[in-house]
Amino acid sequence: MSATAGTLKSVRQQDAAAATAPPPAGGATAEGGTKIALRNIRKTFGGERGLVAIDDITVDIPAGQFFVIVGPSGCGKTTLLRILAGLDNHTGGSIEIARSDSDRPTNAMVFQGDSLFPWYSVYDNAAYGLRMRGIAESKVRDIVLPLLDKIGMARFRDHYPHQLSGGMRQRVSIVRAFANDPEILLMDEPFSALDEQNRVLLHEELLRIWETTKKTVVFITHSVDEAVTLGDRIMVMTAHPGRSKTLIDVPFPRPRQVLELRNTPSYGHLVYQIWEYLREEVQRSRSQVEGATT
Ligand SMILES: Nc1ncnc2c1ncn2[C@@H]1O[C@H](COP(=O)(O)OP(=O)(O)O)[C@@H](O)[C@H]1O
Ligand SMILES: [Mg+2]
Repeated sequence: MSATAGTLKSVRQQDAAAATAPPPAGGATAEGGTKIALRNIRKTFGGERGLVAIDDITVDIPAGQFFVIVGPSGCGKTTLLRILAGLDNHTGGSIEIARSDSDRPTNAMVFQGDSLFPWYSVYDNAAYGLRMRGIAESKVRDIVLPLLDKIGMARFRDHYPHQLSGGMRQRVSIVRAFANDPEILLMDEPFSALDEQNRVLLHEELLRIWETTKKTVVFITHSVDEAVTLGDRIMVMTAHPGRSKTLIDVPFPRPRQVLELRNTPSYGHLVYQIWEYLREEVQRSRSQVEGATT
């Protein structure tokens, strides 16, 4: 399999040794085209006869799309994201991520848990990735300060993580990820430990930042509300082993006002429709867990 677009500077390819997949139809291309091309992705833990965590996922994610993955606990969401981040290998299929600029990092991740350095201030945490890349201090400031401002954290720039609430720490993690200007942004249930009020505020703030950058995002959640509020397209996964059950477009215009959007009938209809797909999978996932413990 080879890079498909002449305009590509480089493409990260991870052809699994065991891949038997046919070549991709289109593959990942430069800006405006497909940013992430997944073909027949499979992941087993403990050898080919071991646990199948992900089975046969094929999807193209266009550049600039806010792509959301919803699925029951244990269906392989984190595993898929770790594979996209290059932190884990897939055991079948292929991945291409189109790169527009070889100087930029391929990805940045935001997790549910705390990933800030406790000994750095808010500002230094947010600036970390840029400094690691040797960006001049004046440019770091020009990038980091407006982002901190946009997410309501500018006045806390000299605070340390232990002085912040969980929601504030996640805001800094988000700024750090965007500041680094990765080709793709990977988010694994970043808000699931927060209370509902904080979550709504963070949805608004994340959308505000994302709408100015239109970065390609892969966002994982088990919340259907979160998926519909944030996403352009939603992949519903099956219970273990994780497959793509369906892909659903979210038609709501942007910029989105979170509370106003949630107050519309079409929002409720879409949430209901996705729950219809998910319900069976959540039940299946629960019986798998109960079966394993009895
Ligand atoms: N390092 C690992 N070794 C063995 N099994 C794993 C490992 N990581 C995840 N799994 C298994 O793979 C499946 C999917 O896990 P995960 O991707 O964490 O699910 P999710 O994020 O959707 O809750 C689960 O059955 C989990 O126990
Ligand atoms: Mg997970």
